[in-house]
Amino acid sequence: MEAVVLVGGFGTRLRPLTADTPKQMLPVVDRPMIEHVVAHLAAHGVTRVVLSLGFRPEAFTAAYPDGTCAGMPLHYAVEPEPLDTAGAVRFAALDAGIDGTFLVLNGDVLTDLDVTAMVARHREAGAWGTIALTEVADPSRYGVVPFDEDRRVLGFVEKPPADEAPSRWINAGTYVLEPEVLDRIEAGRRVSIEREVFPALAAEGLLRAEPSEGYWLDTGTPEAYLRANLDLVDGTRSDLPAVHPTASVADGVGIRRSVVMAGASVGSGVDLCDAVVMDGATIGRGSSVRGSLVGPGAALGEGASVAGGCVVGPGASVPAGADLEGGRFPEEA
Ligand code: GDD
Ligand code: MG
Repeated sequence: MEAVVLVGGFGTRLRPLTADTPKQMLPVVDRPMIEHVVAHLAAHGVTRVVLSLGFRPEAFTAAYPDGTCAGMPLHYAVEPEPLDTAGAVRFAALDAGIDGTFLVLNGDVLTDLDVTAMVARHREAGAWGTIALTEVADPSRYGVVPFDEDRRVLGFVEKPPADEAPSRWINAGTYVLEPEVLDRIEAGRRVSIEREVFPALAAEGLLRAEPSEGYWLDTGTPEAYLRANLDLVDGTRSDLPAVHPTASVADGVGIRRSVVMAGASVGSGVDLCDAVVMDGATIGRGSSVRGSLVGPGAALGEGASVAGGCVVGPGASVPAGADLEGGRFPEEA
């Protein structure tokens, strides 16, 4: 089985962290996000990953110059221009010569979905496509997917107003597709799989639902990206070491549910709580970081306080004694 992984978006909601880095190349604790995604696919027998690239493809090709990622053979499909989700799938599948049943993934989703079982049920049902679903409290930020007791998909509504969502089950961003679906995607223009292709196929009764209750997280917002990191060190998903072996942390620093990445440096008297300190960042003496992200190479002066979902941009310098609550720093980033 081959998988097309969509990694070509601009990552707008994660700026300034994604100003120069695609979100799937941002680290999640110890590795770029894409490596977590690829390792999960490898565990389910996927033999080749087709990366559907748009924004900054060189970030991937430079990181995996031998064409393998976490031991998985890669095919790079670089779009000439952003083609949106369905256009990207079509372009990548044809570029890679896919001609059998294949997987498609939104590359910014971390999940423990049982892909093997999903593929088996897809084949049994003889559907054109199967969409993994997860249940959320607020479906309005996602693709909402009503389905019947036979798991037939009844419709697909992308990002409906909160009070109009027909279901709390949403598109979890993993699909099993038959190659026939590619013929339903017009060539050479932007086509959204969520707004055009899936609604049409659902109306014809060709799509199957795969509801799942396992771990699922779309990392596309600062809050979610922070959570993706913390979930791997606080026992929610695993207990990876919270402090990278190459980071330097002064004695007596308070670290609660936080991640300190490679080469970062944390001074004495610092307090970290629900914090992510990214590669090479420096946290000055007596500072505190709570519920916030400090970007790679950023520096907090002594006694600074960063809290409330704040995102400090890559390489930014927060002055000593500054008090940041939420938002981005610098603000124009
Ligand atoms: N190659 C390519 N080209 N990739 C793209 C493009 C494009 O033009 N546009 C977006 N992508 C990639 C993004 O990098 C991301 O991995 C994936 O496609 C989904 O895009 P997002 O921007 O993250 O979409 P979303 O989170 O708002 O919504 C999508 O995901 C939800 C679940 O996480 C939709 O599929 C929703 O229906 C779904 O519920
Ligand atoms: Mg997303």
